[in-house]
Amino acid sequence: MVLSIAWLALRSAAAASLPEHRITNIFDPLATPAESEKNIALLVFAITGVIFVGVAGLIGYTIWRFRQPTHEPHSEEPPQVYGSNQIEVAWTVVPILIVFVLIGVSARVIAAVENASPPQAALKVTVIGHQWWWEVLYPDYGIVTANEIHMPATNDHKNATYLQLQSADVIHSFWLPQLSGKTDLIPNRTNFMWIDPHQPGVYVGNCAEYCGTQHANMLLTVVGEDPKAFKQWTIEQQKRAIDDPQVSEGKAVFESLACVNCHNIAGLGKASSGSKFGPDLTHLMSRHTLGSGVIKNTPDNLRAWVNDPQVAKPGCLMPSMKLTPEELRKVVDYLETLR
Ligand code: CUA
Repeated sequence: MVLSIAWLALRSAAAASLPEHRITNIFDPLATPAESEKNIALLVFAITGVIFVGVAGLIGYTIWRFRQPTHEPHSEEPPQVYGSNQIEVAWTVVPILIVFVLIGVSARVIAAVENASPPQAALKVTVIGHQWWWEVLYPDYGIVTANEIHMPATNDHKNATYLQLQSADVIHSFWLPQLSGKTDLIPNRTNFMWIDPHQPGVYVGNCAEYCGTQHANMLLTVVGEDPKAFKQWTIEQQKRAIDDPQVSEGKAVFESLACVNCHNIAGLGKASSGSKFGPDLTHLMSRHTLGSGVIKNTPDNLRAWVNDPQVAKPGCLMPSMKLTPEELRKVVDYLETLR
């Protein structure tokens, strides 16, 4: 139920501008790694399909051909045939060859995907899994955001985006089926992967390793954009938070509460702890969803979320701050200015 709401939320959010590639289907790839993985899957299916049809066909034929005749009662054992060297060699050597072909092809694809090192100019993004959201860093741009990963769409895998995958707590797994296979995010370790979304659009995925209560609500979004739009996005994200004097009361409430212990807002000044325990809120309103894809980022949903996140995402690590209606209104008014 919650998940379907999340999908709907993502759908309406993305409908605004970019086309959506929301088919979480490995057989409809839209990036180089996913394409090579699909091709190898088809090859494996073809070979194992031929084996299956051969074996199942022979079994079926044997059962039918040598069934017990109804008109004569079973009397004597059929002739026992064994010890044919040719047959023994054939059914040993042929499967070994098939296995070697599959190993060879798999190793080639794995090497091509995993050993590709990033060109100097490639966009590098660090993704850190948290219970239960994604921290997203662009070290070369000084950008910190969450849950929605913007990158240029490209047909040239030399312009792919390289991801460094880390975890802040437990093992998570990064999976956008149309872009690439799964790669785990493991504490105290950095894994790498690269993706090159071929078409502009919004790609959806999910955490693929059970990581606790809200594992199913760790939705992932990649926004593939044309390079100009991506450039514009980076410029917007590099700005410090808007400081609107009209909402200074809300800002003061935010600063006076425990919110600042977990959430960073660039430009908050002394009150800001620089903490990364919760998502960075500097450009909160530029994101389409709240709670890592659980609900659409609308004013009503934002109010409900700040009032009590446990309603939309039971078990998430943000508690209800028990704000008075007045405080809630002020804080939400302030948050809504963070574009
Ligand atoms: Cu993170 Cu499952």
